Amino acid sequence: MLTNSQVLAIRSRFPVFRNKIYLNSCSQGALSDAVEDGLREYVASWHEHGSPWDSWVERYEAARAQFAGFIGAAPDEVAVVPYASAGINSVASALTFDQRKKVVLGEFEFPTMGHIWLAQQKRGADVEFVRASGDVIPVEGYERAIDHKTLIVPITGICFMNGFRSAVKEIVRLARANGALTMLDDYQDCGTRPVNVRTADLDFYVTGTLKYLLGPPGLAFLYVRKELIESLRPTITGWFAQTNPFAFDVKHLDLAPSARRFEAGSPPIPNIYAAMRGIELLQGIGLDNVSAHIAGLVRALLAGAKKLGLRTKTPQDSVGPLCVLLCKDAPALVQKLAASGIVCSNRHDGLRLSFHVYNTQGDVESVLEVLERNLDLLVTGATSVSAG
Ligand SMILES: Cc1ncc(COP(=O)(O)O)c(C=O)c1O
Repeated sequence: MLTNSQVLAIRSRFPVFRNKIYLNSCSQGALSDAVEDGLREYVASWHEHGSPWDSWVERYEAARAQFAGFIGAAPDEVAVVPYASAGINSVASALTFDQRKKVVLGEFEFPTMGHIWLAQQKRGADVEFVRASGDVIPVEGYERAIDHKTLIVPITGICFMNGFRSAVKEIVRLARANGALTMLDDYQDCGTRPVNVRTADLDFYVTGTLKYLLGPPGLAFLYVRKELIESLRPTITGWFAQTNPFAFDVKHLDLAPSARRFEAGSPPIPNIYAAMRGIELLQGIGLDNVSAHIAGLVRALLAGAKKLGLRTKTPQDSVGPLCVLLCKDAPALVQKLAASGIVCSNRHDGLRLSFHVYNTQGDVESVLEVLERNLDLLVTGATSVSAG
């Protein structure tokens, strides 16, 4: 567990806290001195050498290896892509919807997940959404939907709208029992706790760097289980997906034997320089420490919200990182909090407060004070939902 002085030392590396209380990591992680240095290093390399593509490609391979280590995978199981949608699309393009046509996914997925699989209807996909019950998706919904016709089950780790944590273990077990593939979209959680894609028994894992990984937009990673790679041939492709991109052979499609076959064009080098520093920072702190710290903040926020009689969308037993409160006027509340120097966001009627290793109990108290002054904008009185 981190001490207060350790947390304050970490916080001091994120200049936004000089003027603001930052609770919007669910949109974009705060910028650290380390990530800023990474960007500077990229600029310096460009200034100094003009076109140092050899060392830039080395850095891109280093990012692949770093992320693989971060999630317990091998480097050749990781594709470096510009955004999560690119990785998901590449996988979708490699699947055929003949014997198995069903894609089973929850209503709490990030919209891109729905859009990508709905676009596959043209290629034969049969998309079935698992219905929510209030702010919870009961696992029984997946149990009813997943069958021997199911090809793949995409699962959001944490819902971006309400902070609900999917029952990943149980859903993966149901998918496995029916011979279906699984894809975890961990964008709303990766960087807040240790991840191991092997012990989680996942086929695909996707995330990007701009939220809890503390990096910039424009970089994401796709893990593909080794045993699946050679059987999948993406039809969304490009020169960086080839065995040797630098063969410059326009007439042959020679997909890389590794997960690089799920990539396409020139890698986002500036983002790689920056993002690696964010991941390094988290590794230096220790992901167990990060998750324990976040859980303490979330417990305090939820307890404070309960005391004020606020209706939460996020279950009371949540360990975070995202807590969402039901509002009468969420955009107005975001403005009120901004006027007090607190940065957060809303989705529909939910006020999103997200916590990371740089936040403190003082931040929780500050936000609760503003909420108490603005009870008219919040829904009060009703009991909160439970994880079920
Ligand atoms: C759960 C989740 N998945 C995916 C994304 C974004 O995907 P992309 O990198 O394709 O923009 C987000 C962004 O907010 C997200 O919250």
